[in-house]
Amino acid sequence: MRYSSTRRVLARYLLTSGVLLAGFLSPVRAASQDPTRTFAKAPPLPVMTGKVVLITGSTDGLGRDVARRVAEAGARVLITGRSAERGDSLVAEIAKGGKGSAKFYRADLASLDDVRRLADAVLRDNPRLDILVNNAGVGFVFDTTRKFSAEGHEMHFAVNYLAHYLLTKRLLPRIVASAPSRIINVSSGSQTPIDFDDVMMAKGYTGGRGYAQSKLAQVMMTIDMAPALERQGVLTYSLHPATTMATTMARALNVTPRSTIAEGVESVVNAIITTEPTGTYFNQLKPVKAHAQAYDAEAREKLRAISERLAGK
Ligand SMILES: NC(=O)c1ccc[n+]([C@@H]2O[C@H](COP(=O)([O-])OP(=O)(O)OC[C@H]3O[C@@H](n4cnc5c(N)ncnc54)[C@H](OP(=O)(O)O)[C@@H]3O)[C@@H](O)[C@H]2O)c1
Repeated sequence: MRYSSTRRVLARYLLTSGVLLAGFLSPVRAASQDPTRTFAKAPPLPVMTGKVVLITGSTDGLGRDVARRVAEAGARVLITGRSAERGDSLVAEIAKGGKGSAKFYRADLASLDDVRRLADAVLRDNPRLDILVNNAGVGFVFDTTRKFSAEGHEMHFAVNYLAHYLLTKRLLPRIVASAPSRIINVSSGSQTPIDFDDVMMAKGYTGGRGYAQSKLAQVMMTIDMAPALERQGVLTYSLHPATTMATTMARALNVTPRSTIAEGVESVVNAIITTEPTGTYFNQLKPVKAHAQAYDAEAREKLRAISERLAGK
C-alpha cells in the first residue's frame, strides 16, 4: 500500500536526518473521530466590531473556520484563496449569519505578482488592517518530485513562506497605522533547518523536507520581525495549530486525522488574544521553543537577505 511504504521511507529518513515532523507523524490517536474528546480552549474573543482581519487560505480548512469565528465576534474578514466558488460561498454564509462581514479576494500565492495584486486590492479597499493571519499552505509531504512557483521557486518555500513575507511587507504600513495590531503566522511542528546553500532543494528533495523548511522559515520570520514591529505597536506570533487536523491537506496525504479543525481554531484564537511576549512560538496554546535555527540570528539574517532578493518589492 502506497501510504505504508511512503511512511516507512519517511520514518527511515527521519531517523537519519533529525527532521522534526511532529505535525504529521506523532502517534495516531484517531482524535477527530472521538466526539467526547476534550481539548484546551482559548479564552473567548473580545467583541471585534470595527476590526479588519485578513486570513490567507480561508476558503478551506483551518482558515475558513477561523474566518467564521472572527466574523462571529463582529470583525470584517478578508477571505483569500484560489477558489472563487468557496470564497464567495463563505462570504454569503457570513452575510447570512448577520454577524461581522466578509469580502473575498482571489489570489494564487504561487505567484508573487498575484501577491502584489492582492496587497494592492486590500490596501485600496480597507482603511485599516488590525490582524493578518498568514495561514495558506501546501503540503506535498510524501512527494519526491519538486514543484515550482510562477517564479521558479520551490513550491512550499514559495507559497507557505515567501508569499507571506512579501504580503506582510506590502501590508505593513496599514497594519502599523492600525496599531495595536497583530501578525500571526500559522506554521507547524514540522520544522527542518534551512540549507542556505540549497534553499530551493535541488539536492535531496523530499516533500517532507520542503514543507518543514518552509514552516521553520515562517517561525524565523516571526522572531526576526518581532522587535522592530513591537516598537511600532504590532505584535507577532507563530504557532503549530494542531496535529493532523481533518482538512483537505491531511486528506490529500491519506493520513488518519488526529485532531479536529476546532482544535486548530483555538490555537489561532489564542494567538489573537495572547499576552505572551511578541515573537513567541506556540504549540497549540502552549509557548514552546521552535527548532534551534529559529534562534540563530545569523541564520535569520541570511533568510531575510534571500527573501529580500527574491521578493523584496
Ligand atoms: N492540517 C494540519 O494538520 C496542519 C498541521 C500543522 C500545520 N498546518 C498548517 O495550517 C495551515 C492551514 O492548513 P489546512 O490544513 O487548513 O489546509 P487546507 O484545508 O488544505 O487549506 C489550505 C488553504 O490554503 C489555500 N491555498 C493553498 N494553496 C494556495 C495558493 N497557491 N494560493 C492561495 N491560497 C492557497 C487554500 O485555498 P484554495 O484551495 O482556495 O487555493 C486553502 O484555503 C497551513 O499553513 C498548514 O501548513 C496544518
